[in-house]
Amino acid sequence: MKMSESPFKGDILKGKVALITGGGSGIGFEISAQFGIHGASVAIMGRRRQVLDFGVSELRSKGIQAIGLEGDVRKREDAARVVETTVKHFGKLDILVNGAAGNFLASPENLSPNGFRTVIEIDSVGTFTMCHEALKYLKAMPEKGLSTGGFVLNISANLHYTASWYQIHVSAAKAAVDSITRSLALEWGTDYNIRVNGIAPGPIEGTPGFQKLAPEEMKSKAKEYMPLYRTGERWDIAMAALYLASDAGKYINGCTMIVDGGFWLSRPRYIPKEDVKELSRVVEKKSRMVGLPSSKL
Ligand code: COA
Repeated sequence: MKMSESPFKGDILKGKVALITGGGSGIGFEISAQFGIHGASVAIMGRRRQVLDFGVSELRSKGIQAIGLEGDVRKREDAARVVETTVKHFGKLDILVNGAAGNFLASPENLSPNGFRTVIEIDSVGTFTMCHEALKYLKAMPEKGLSTGGFVLNISANLHYTASWYQIHVSAAKAAVDSITRSLALEWGTDYNIRVNGIAPGPIEGTPGFQKLAPEEMKSKAKEYMPLYRTGERWDIAMAALYLASDAGKYINGCTMIVDGGFWLSRPRYIPKEDVKELSRVVEKKSRMVGLPSSKL
């Protein structure tokens, strides 16, 4: 199978309407394209008209029904207008993907409180605002024959599972996003039958984040420190998104799926593999000689 081929049937999102913030570029665009290829109509939201226009024409060239809506997720009135326009245009809303994010590298001492706040406002508050404005359309409405509610996907990161250099603002923002995912999964899953999940991507080529955050040498050195010997592709994230959004994921709620090839687990291999066996035997031998359990040595 070629990397660009989808393993999913082409109609798994047939008839669905999806709104994707940050859908004009990077991961958001790939999710928009793959959702469209698998049957959904898509509205992409972003701040830059030019980026949206380019994204929409690319999507339409693939036969996807797409519109581009200008707006900033930090502004509640923009969020409300974009949700309303999507519903007006396509008649409903089934899927919300919160992909809009802000990022830059900064050490804590060189980051102003406003810089910190800006990223929190885009990633965390923006995610909540979009969910809040979309709720009325995502609710299950048994009276209209809709027994199942919609689906929300929050794009997170793996930075905050440990700690990441120069990313204090984004780590804090994405930790809040993961928390929002769990709280809404609990509350809106129970009250409105809406599923809320997340994806935590690792370094993904072809994204603004990768361009901004990963120095050129990172790509060539990836083989040395990535468990699967490669950085990710936008396709990897879009396939995970399709899985979660489709019926295949219908019992998955409140989960943030890490799609980073195991990168967040990676540590340098301090002891060469061939030395480990010998070293461990020597330690055991020593402990027997002195009659003590190895833990006491
Ligand atoms: N290093 C340190 N501080 C920075 C910075 C940097 N590289 N870039 C911005 N800031 C600070 C600014 O100095 C400002 O704080 P101040 O008022 O105390 O000086 C604050 O952040 C807001 O900056 P501003 O440029 O006004 O914000 P904006 O709303 O125009 O842009 C950003 C938001 C900064 C997040 C911008 O990078 C952006 O729009 N990003 C979207 C795309 C993106 O990052 N994609 C990657 C996703 S992984």
